[in-house]
Amino acid sequence: MRIVKTDCEYFIFLWTAYKRKVRIGLAAALTEEEVFVMLGLLPGIGCLDRNDSGGGIFMGQNKDAQVNLRKVAMIGCGFVGSASAFSLMQSGLFSEMVLIDADQERAEGEAMDISHGVPFAREMKIYAGNYDDITDAAIIIITAGANQKPEETRLDLVHKNVGIFKSIIPEIAKRNCQGILLVVSNPVDILTYTALKLSGFTENRVIGSGTVLDTARLKYELGKHLSVDSKSVHAFIIGEHGDSEIAAFSSANVSGIALSEFCEMRGHYAHDENSRQIAERVKNSAYDIIKKKRATYYGIAMAVKRICEVIIRDEKSILPVSSMMHGAYGLEDVVLSMPAVVGKHGVETQVPIPLDKEEIEKLQKSAETLKEIIRDVEW
Ligand SMILES: NC(=O)c1ccc[n+]([C@@H]2O[C@H](COP(=O)([O-])OP(=O)(O)OC[C@H]3O[C@@H](n4cnc5c(N)ncnc54)[C@H](O)[C@@H]3O)[C@@H](O)[C@H]2O)c1
Repeated sequence: MRIVKTDCEYFIFLWTAYKRKVRIGLAAALTEEEVFVMLGLLPGIGCLDRNDSGGGIFMGQNKDAQVNLRKVAMIGCGFVGSASAFSLMQSGLFSEMVLIDADQERAEGEAMDISHGVPFAREMKIYAGNYDDITDAAIIIITAGANQKPEETRLDLVHKNVGIFKSIIPEIAKRNCQGILLVVSNPVDILTYTALKLSGFTENRVIGSGTVLDTARLKYELGKHLSVDSKSVHAFIIGEHGDSEIAAFSSANVSGIALSEFCEMRGHYAHDENSRQIAERVKNSAYDIIKKKRATYYGIAMAVKRICEVIIRDEKSILPVSSMMHGAYGLEDVVLSMPAVVGKHGVETQVPIPLDKEEIEKLQKSAETLKEIIRDVEW
C-alpha cells in the first residue's frame, strides 16, 4: 500500500485514483469537477493545458504544465485595475495575483494595500511584478490606459489606448502565454480587436468585457422598475460597449415571461416610453458617474470577477462578452458584444439571440461605427 505523506501527494493520489475509477473513500463520491476544484485549492497545483480539448489537468511539476489556474495577472492598476484586483482577492478564485503598471510604485502600493485584506479572505500571494511573471497566468486582464474624461466618448480614447496596447500586447505575445486575455480598457471592442491582431492568440482566447457591465446595469434598472430581483431578469445589451449599444428588448423576459407581459403584471403599460428611458439611462450611466466621481470602477470590478469565475470554474455561462463576429446578422471582421458561452477555453460559441428588424438594423449600424474606427487605426 502506498504511503501518502503530504497534502499535495494526497490530492494527487485522489486524482489518480479517481481517474482510474478506483472506488476508494472520498474520490469515489466526488465528480471529476469537484476533484478538480480540490486540486486547485492548493496553490500552483491545478494546471490546465489549453491545447488539451479534454480539459486535462497537469500537476505543478509537470514540464508540460503551461497555465496555473490559480494565477491571474492584472495589467493596469488605476481605478479599474485596483478595484478589480480587490474584488478578485475577495473572491477566493485565485491564490496568486501579479499586478503590473507603467507606474511601478502604484502597482506596489496597490499590492500592499490589497494584501492587507488577505487575512479576512482566503490565503493569496499578491505582488507587483513584470511581464516575466505573467507567463503561466490563467487569465491576463488588461485595464491599462487612459480613462474617459467628462464629456469624452469611449471612442475618443482610441488612438491613446491603441498606442498603449502596442506596447503591452507584444510583451505578452513574446512570452508564449497560454492563458486567456481579458480586455477591459476602452474602447473595449476596438482594443479587443487590437489585442487579437497583435497577440496572434486564437480568437477564443481574446475576450473583451464588452457589455457585461451594461447588461448588469440593464438588469438592475429593469429589476428596480418592475420591483423584482434583477437576477430573474433575462435581458442583454449587445453591440458596441458605447454610444451605439443596443438594448435587446424583443428577447427580454422575466423568468420566461415576455418583458411587456411582465410589465403589465406590475402595472406598467407605457412600454415604448419606459424602455426608451431605461435604455438611455443604461447607455448614459458611465457619463453620469464620471461627471460625479471622475471614474467608474465598482460595477466593472464585479463584472471582471464574474467573467474570471466563469472561465476558471468552466461554468459555460452565457455572457455578453466582446469577441470576433463570423457572419451572424451579416457581421464579419468586427469585434463586438454578443451573448456567448464562456468556459475554460474562453469563448466557446456565440449565441446569436433572436432580434427584431429594428434591433438588427441598429446592430449593423453599431458594427459599421466600429469598423470605421478600425479602418482608421494605424497598425
Ligand atoms: N470595459 C468597461 O466596462 C470599463 C469600465 C470602466 C472603465 N473602463 C476603462 O478602463 C481603463 C482604465 O480606467 P481607469 O479608470 O482605471 O484609469 P486610470 O487612469 O485610473 O488607470 C490606468 C492605469 O493604466 C496605467 N498604464 C498606462 N499605460 C500603461 C502601460 N503601457 N502599461 C501598464 N500600465 C499602464 C496607468 O499608469 C494607470 O495606473 C480605461 O480605458 C477606462 O475607460 C472600462
